[in-house]
Amino acid sequence: MRITHADVWRTRPSEKNSFVSNEVHLSFPFLRKKRIKKVLDIACGNGLGVSLPLLREGYDVYSFDKWKASIKALEKNARKEGFNTRGRVSDMYKRFPYKPSFFDASFCFQAIYHGSLLQIESAFREIQRVTKKGGYFFGTFIPYYIKRDKGRYFFNYTKNNGKIGRIYVKLDKDDPFLCYNLAKNCEYMVPHYYFTKDKLRSTLRKYFRDISIKTVPRKDRCISIWFVRCRI
Ligand SMILES: C[S@@+](CC[C@H](N)C(=O)[O-])C[C@H]1O[C@@H](n2cnc3c(N)ncnc32)[C@H](O)[C@@H]1O
Repeated sequence: MRITHADVWRTRPSEKNSFVSNEVHLSFPFLRKKRIKKVLDIACGNGLGVSLPLLREGYDVYSFDKWKASIKALEKNARKEGFNTRGRVSDMYKRFPYKPSFFDASFCFQAIYHGSLLQIESAFREIQRVTKKGGYFFGTFIPYYIKRDKGRYFFNYTKNNGKIGRIYVKLDKDDPFLCYNLAKNCEYMVPHYYFTKDKLRSTLRKYFRDISIKTVPRKDRCISIWFVRCRI
């Protein structure tokens, strides 16, 4: 069965599953150093990964996601802790619904790579527009760990029994870094853009400065992500 992000947020709104990121705390030391107040969580999901930890730290958090189910899950999770949310439905690959320089920092974790390079760069431009000069952008990206065997493409993951399994992907016909998962139970045909470190750095450099790219291991030892910090 094809399972979408929206299905997960609708049926399991408060679950800390693999769609929920776990890296936002890496940004905290930088936020504390500057006078950060208003922050944006792009593609917030159920909020447990980024919006909620930022609310707990005392920031004014604005959040958006493509799906109403995400915003409902975010509101439910925030209410449990006594927080009000500023969530709305919007598409990160279109114009963001905020004024220029509205935020001190913007976050996009485990999401910005769900599109083509053109779409990702459009999101970078919007982040640059809505975040104050001198402010921060924090995000996570997936390294290019696609392998090839007998003409098929895949990446490895660790199964529950500890053995290594494969998730096969289909390459986009125009851009081999853009892949679509073929596993029916895991983001079936959802686009994922895989960056080499050089390509990620050179793309970020068009829009941001003071770029730092740090490798962060995941519980699944086959998978790591890049935690990116840069300034507008
Ligand atoms: C893996 S979840 C990450 C959720 C959250 N950012 C976190 O780190 O816990 C990916 C989220 O991206 C959202 N998303 C995917 N494409 C989007 C788009 N074009 N615009 C806005 N949100 C999008 C999905 O609805 C989903 O909530």
